[in-house]
Parts: sequence; structure tokens; C-alpha cells
Amino acid sequence: MTPQSDNLNSSLIGYVLGERPFRYFQQVSSTNNVAQKWAAEGALAGSVVLADEQTSGRGRMGRQWVSPAGQAIAMSVILYPTIDEVYLHRLTMAGGLAVIEILSDYVNPSLLALKWPNDVILDGRKVSGILSEGLWLGEHLQSIILGIGLNVRVDFKNTSLESIATSLEPYSLKPISRLLLVLQILTRIDFWIEQLQSDLLINSWRDHLGTIGRHVILHTHQGEISGLATDVDTYGALVVLNEKTNEEYRILAGDISIAEE
Ligand code: BTN
Repeated sequence: MTPQSDNLNSSLIGYVLGERPFRYFQQVSSTNNVAQKWAAEGALAGSVVLADEQTSGRGRMGRQWVSPAGQAIAMSVILYPTIDEVYLHRLTMAGGLAVIEILSDYVNPSLLALKWPNDVILDGRKVSGILSEGLWLGEHLQSIILGIGLNVRVDFKNTSLESIATSLEPYSLKPISRLLLVLQILTRIDFWIEQLQSDLLINSWRDHLGTIGRHVILHTHQGEISGLATDVDTYGALVVLNEKTNEEYRILAGDISIAEE
């Protein structure tokens, strides 16, 4: 059950978010869908869509994302980046970085890591995921919707996700207000969006990545590649070395699993 103090409502959200335009839904299909429509209607940069419950939340690689009522954060931030397209992955990095930094104030930071490309891992299981979706008008990128899902008190016990997903609250050293968390994450996103071109972003993101130095299996739309993850490059690509052939791959999109070591 949601603690009473953690209920969301529009007037409270308006009070806490101040000037930032927002749309709040008790239940919505996907906050990314709503944000896409709002962006097409001309929402201001930084506007946010929030929902207490998502019924058809989307994850990366066509997966579903579960956000049950009162138990999670589901939000989408509308951005109009002016950076070169090759750097677009930096927006997702900004999201992952913002989340992990804020969560470090709630749990023992040694339990947290980023898993490439942008999963936030808490004690070995995923607590948060980022899905950024671009809205294109022909060749022109109109907007980016930065969707963030964070499991606050979702109970995955006896579900198919039990071994791979977890929630923040059982690990938290202090009581959780989802709204305060939203404000903190948004403030940190604002900071990192200002730093999109800087090395600070890529270096800070790299510092949190638990993937470097691990043997990984990369699952891409083109197939699987396995090797040693040696680095990430300035575009957010994972650099993977096939130690048998000495070939180096730079992968921008996909999913990894850590190979048995
Ligand atoms: C992932 O697969 O790791 C990304 C999950 C992203 C989920 C969030 S929840 C808010 C926003 N709306 C969606 O439909 N998806 C994102």
C-alpha cells in the first residue's frame, strides 16, 4: 500500500515543481506517448509528464515496463536538444546519471552502478531504466522525450522479474517521497543537460559504469557479439574487444548480459 504521505496530486505537484510545466495523470498508457503529443503541440523545454500508474509503459528493445499505482515513478521530460545528432546518446546518459546520483543520497552508493547503456542497478538488480525517443520531422529532430521509470516499492517477489528487478524503498536509508525524488532528479537532469557537450558528462557517466572490464554478451538487432568491454567512447558507444580475433566493436544500441567469468 502507498504510504499516505506519498500520494500524488496535481496541486501538490504544481507547488513542488514551481514554474516547470507538467501534466499529471492518475493512470495513463505511457507518459512517453503523452509527452510526444504535448511536444508536437509546442510544450516548453523541460516540461514533464508524470503518472501514478502506467498501463502500457514501454521499455527499451520493445519490452514492457511495469509501473503499478502508488509504487513507482513514471515520468517523461520534453527536451529540444540543439546538439549534433552524433551526441544524442548523451541525453540518455544525462538521465541515467541524474538518477544514479540522486539515488546515492538514499542508499549505500556502493550498491549502485550503471549498466550500459543506461540501466540503474541496485544490489545487482535493475531499479530504474531510461527510454529516450526522438520525434523527427523528416530529417529534422523536433524533440526528445526522456522517459524515466523508477521502481520505488514494486514488489517483484514471485514474479518473472524477481531475479532481475528491484525497488528502492527496501534499501533506502530514509523515507521516500516520490515527488521529492522527481524534483531532485529533474533538477539534476537540468544540470546535466547544460553539460551535454562537456567531458564532465561522459567522465562522470563512465565512472558509474559497472560494465567496463567485464566480459559481456551484446544483444543487438543484428545479432550477438561477445567480448571484453574495455571502454565507452565520447558518443556513448560501448567498446568491446573480441579477444580471439582482436577485433574491436563500437556498439551504440543494444543490450548486454554479463558473461560468466
Ligand atoms: C528500459 O527498458 O530500461 C527503459 C524503461 C523506461 C520506462 C519509462 S517509465 C516512463 C516512460 N514511459 C514509458 O512508457 N517508458 C518510460
